[in-house]
Formats: sequence, structure tokens, C-alpha cells
Amino acid sequence: MPRATVIDHAMTERLLDHAAGIARAAQLLREGALVAFGTETVYGLGADATDAAAVAGIFAAKRRPHFNPLICHYESAEAAFRDVVADRRARVVAAALWPGPLTLVLPRRPDCRIALLTGAGLDTQAVRVPAHATAQALCQAVGRPVAGPSANMSGQVSPTTAQHVLDGLQGRIAAVLDSGPCAVGIESTVLDLSGPTAVLLRHGGATIEAIEALIGPVARLPAPQEPLRGPGMLASHYAPSLPVRLDATSVAADEALLAFGPPLQGAGAIFQLSATGSLTEAAARLFDGLRSLDRTGLRGIAAMPIPATGLGLAIADRLGRAAAPRG
Ligand code: TXA
Ligand code: MG
Repeated sequence: MPRATVIDHAMTERLLDHAAGIARAAQLLREGALVAFGTETVYGLGADATDAAAVAGIFAAKRRPHFNPLICHYESAEAAFRDVVADRRARVVAAALWPGPLTLVLPRRPDCRIALLTGAGLDTQAVRVPAHATAQALCQAVGRPVAGPSANMSGQVSPTTAQHVLDGLQGRIAAVLDSGPCAVGIESTVLDLSGPTAVLLRHGGATIEAIEALIGPVARLPAPQEPLRGPGMLASHYAPSLPVRLDATSVAADEALLAFGPPLQGAGAIFQLSATGSLTEAAARLFDGLRSLDRTGLRGIAAMPIPATGLGLAIADRLGRAAAPRG
């Protein structure tokens, strides 16, 4: 796969969110190049999912461990369900929550077009229909499933603006389609419906409450430290370079504070997730906050407690990974 090793682009094109920009992004993807694109959750690093060499390029560009299976993006549930088998549960959640921040892990169809590498060789495939109009237009213009992990170097926080993408991947990918900041700001919820029991593999933008209201009880994965069925859920996946201290009730002058609600006094720097205590606002600002506090050069990041409900679970999950011991 020679193309996979060619990751030096003199300059990453910054494409604008209009017809010509989307057409150029689609053309590049169809040619096997890597194009980052905005969704409502985070920016994805796109490749033609049917082209294993292009998909290999994703792993190379991100320096991502190869065993992490990738999500495929589609313009509609109908298009997605041409590649994977959707049972009644899948159709019910798709009808209610797509387009939106939900990924479904489903069995591959025998005639699935997606390269095996995309799913890391598993017989299941993760699929999602993003709500962002630009992402949908892009998928439609490509006419093939678009593989897309978050568009960051492996182990870094997920990007929520085109500039974040360029901070990590400038010169390593062909282009970024700039559709502005991501509205949700946290990755999609990953729900495994490939077996008889529905299993939540990752908290994210779609709440577990909303899913259980549709299909009944959903099993949780064991804590992230334990061996995992969902590869790629490494405990320290979302790691800023500064150490993170959770549930801080006081803060030192040489620490940076990730605040939620009225901030603790005395920090060397503060990033406010939500002054009013809104979990939606906090989710949208989380990765921005980790990035900017990481740049302060202080001793560490102290994170204030976040309520463990709805999107707060996803935020706590991300912070827990950020705080996990580094391997
Ligand atoms: O919001 C999102 O989901 C973003 C945007 C770009 O769509 N994408 C994203 O992709 O976060 P990524 O690759 O960073 O995370 C995908 C997650 C990983 O935890 C991976 O292990 C899991 O989905 N996953 C993918 N395919 C799977 C499969 N077949 N079985 C189990 N887990 C899978
Ligand atoms: Mg990621």
C-alpha cells in the first residue's frame, strides 16, 4: 500500500464550506486522499472507506494503533443499511436519533463495500449519519461510505475547529473542509447492536436515557481499565499532556482550573466550561478547554466536579480518560 506511507503534503488545503469546497473535498476523497471534515460532534479525518490504502493513510497520519476500528459516515440510514444488517432495534434508534451524534455497531453484510481494514478486521462495522449539513453533503457527493476517526494525532484530544485539525495534522493530510466550530463538541455515543444485548461502548452526544426510552435497558461496558471488547477504548486515549486531577474542590496557584459553575478561587489559569452549569455548553467547550489549559505550562489541570447525568456522563468519561495513568 504505497500511498499509505506518503503522508507529506507540502500544504494542507483549507476548503471553505460552500459548493466548490465540498466538491473539491469529495474529489480528493474519491482519489484516495485524506480530508478532515466537520460534523456536529468533532472533526473527522475522512477517507474513502472502500479503499483500504486510503484507510491505511488514516492510521499513518494519526499514528493511531492499527487495531482501532473506524466509524463510517453516510448521508442517510438507507445508505448505511446497505453495508450493515439493521434489525428492528437499529431501525428504531436510527429513525429517532439519526441524523445525530449516535454510532451503531452492526454486523457487516456479506456484500459490504467497506474495506476490512476500516473495521480492523472485525465482522461488525460502526456506522453513523452525522447531522451536520456539510458532512451530509460531503457523504452524498462522495457516494461511498466515508471512514472517519476524530481528526487528531492518536492520544490527543479531539478537534472541534478546523484550526485544531491543522494544529495536529498540518502537512499530513490533503485538506480540511472548514465548516466552523462543532455544535455538540463531544464524540458520538457508540452503541453495539451486533448481538442480542444492546451494549453501550462509549458515552457521547446522544444520551443513554434517550436510547433506553426507545429500546429498553442497555448494558454498560466494564470500567475502561479492564480488557475491552471494543478495541480503541484505551484508558488514556483522551490525554492532554498536563496531568489532570478530577473532582477538585480546591485549586493551587500553579494549577489550571477547568471550571464548571462558580469557579474555585486561586488558580493560575481558568477555563470556564459553563458559568451557568449547562452540560450541553460544557460538552461543546470541553476539548477547547483541555487544549487551552494544556498550553498554560502550569503544573497540572484541576477539573471541577461534573454532575453524572446525561451529557455529564460523557464529559466525566472523557475527563477520566484524560486523568488515567499514562502508559
Ligand atoms: O463523533 C464521532 O464519533 C467522531 C466523528 C468524526 O464522527 N468519530 C470518532 O471516531 O470519534 P473515533 O475513531 O475517534 O472513535 C470511534 C470509536 C472508537 O472507540 C472505536 O473503538 C469504536 O468507535 N468502534 C468503531 N468500530 C467499532 C466496532 N466495530 N466495534 C466496537 N467498537 C468500535
Ligand atoms: Mg478519537
